[in-house]
Amino acid sequence: MAGSTQIPYLLRAARGEKLDRPPVWMMRQAGRYMKAYRDLREKYPSFRERSEIPEVAVEVSLQPWRAFQPDGVILFSDIVTPLPGLGINMDIAEGKGPIIDPPIRSQAQVDALRPLEPEESLPFIRTILQALRQEVGNQSTVLGFVGAPWTLAAYAVEGKGSKTYSVIKGMAFSEPAMLHQLLGKLADAIAVYARYQIDSGAQVVQMFDSWAGQLSPQDYETFALPYQQRVFQQVKATHPDTPLILLVSGSAGVLELMGRSGADIISVDWAVDMADARRRLGPEMKVQGNIDPGVLFGSKAFIRDRILDTIRKAGNRGHILNLGHGILPTTPEENAAFFFETAKQADRLLTVAV
Ligand code: CP3
Repeated sequence: MAGSTQIPYLLRAARGEKLDRPPVWMMRQAGRYMKAYRDLREKYPSFRERSEIPEVAVEVSLQPWRAFQPDGVILFSDIVTPLPGLGINMDIAEGKGPIIDPPIRSQAQVDALRPLEPEESLPFIRTILQALRQEVGNQSTVLGFVGAPWTLAAYAVEGKGSKTYSVIKGMAFSEPAMLHQLLGKLADAIAVYARYQIDSGAQVVQMFDSWAGQLSPQDYETFALPYQQRVFQQVKATHPDTPLILLVSGSAGVLELMGRSGADIISVDWAVDMADARRRLGPEMKVQGNIDPGVLFGSKAFIRDRILDTIRKAGNRGHILNLGHGILPTTPEENAAFFFETAKQADRLLTVAV
C-alpha cells in the first residue's frame, strides 16, 4: 500500500520524499517476454495496430500491471509514433524496429515537415492515457514517453536503426545547418506531444535519447543536449509540476551533460556504478535505473542481491528502481515477476540484510 497518503510511490520519489522502499517499474515492461503479449500479437500482427487501436494498446499496457502491479504503468506505444503527423512515413517491422521510407535527407524534405497537431494525428493517445488513469487510479503512476530530437532524427535520416549512424553523422559533419533545422522542428513537435500526453493523463514523461550515447561528448553538446533542453524548457513552461525523466543509452561519458538537460530524473545505465552516478550527478538530482537487464537471466539470489545493492547505493530519496534499459525479449517471465516482488519487499529485506 502507498501508506497514509494517496499519492503513489513513483510521484513521491519524483518529489524527493524519503521512502521505505523505492518505486519500481521496468522499461519495455509490456512486450515479448510476456506470454500474454505474444498471444495477443498473433491476433494483431501489426505493431501499429497494437499501439494505435485504443482497446488493444490499453490491454497491452495493462498486461504487466495485472501480472506484477508495478509502481509505474507506461503507455504502450513507440517513439516513432508521432512521425506520420509531421509528414514522415513510418512503419515498425517485426524484429527490425522502425522503418522510415523515404528517409529525410534533403533540405526540401526538412522544409516540408508539418507542425504536429496531436488532436488530429494522435487522437488515440488521449483515449489510451485516459483509460490507463481510470484503470490504475491512485495505485500506480501513468507514464507517457517521447523520443528525443537526436534519436528521432537518427531514425528519420538513416531510415532505420543503425549500428554506425554514418548517414546522420555524415549530415551532422557536412551539412550541420540542415540537421539543426530538422532537430529544431522535431524538438518543437516533441514538446507539443509531451504536453498533449500530460493533458491526456500522463503523470510523468520519460524522454528516450537512446542513440545520443553514440555521439562524442562535444558532438552531444552540439546535437543532443540543446534539443533536450529545448523540449524540457517548453514542457516545463506550461507543466512545471510534471516530473521529466531522461534516458540515454551508453551514457557513462555524458552523465554530467545529461544533468544539464533540465530533466528532474536521470535514468542511469549499468556501465556506471550507482554510487558513482550519485556522486557525479550531485545530491539534488533524482535517479532511475542502473540494473543490467542481463541480471534477469541470473539466479534468484543474484537478482535479489543486485536489487538490494542498487537500493543501498541510491539511498532512500529520489530513486526509482528500474533496469538500465529495456527488459530483453527472452527474459524468463518468472524472473521479471521476482524482480517486482523483491523490489516491493525491499524495506524488509534491507533490514534483515544489515
Ligand atoms: O516500455 C514499454 O513497455 C513501452 C513500450 C515501448 C516500445 N517502444 C514498444 C515496442 C517503448 C518505451 C518504446 C520506445 C522505443 N522504441 C525506443 C526507446 C527505448 C529504447 O529501447 O532505447 C526505441 C529506440 C524504439 C525504436 C524501436 N521500436 C526498436 C529499437 C524496436 C525493437 C526492434 C525489435 O524487434 O527488437 C521497436 C519495436 C518495438 N517497440 C517493440 C516493442 C515492444 C518490439 C516489437 C514487438 O513487440 O512486436
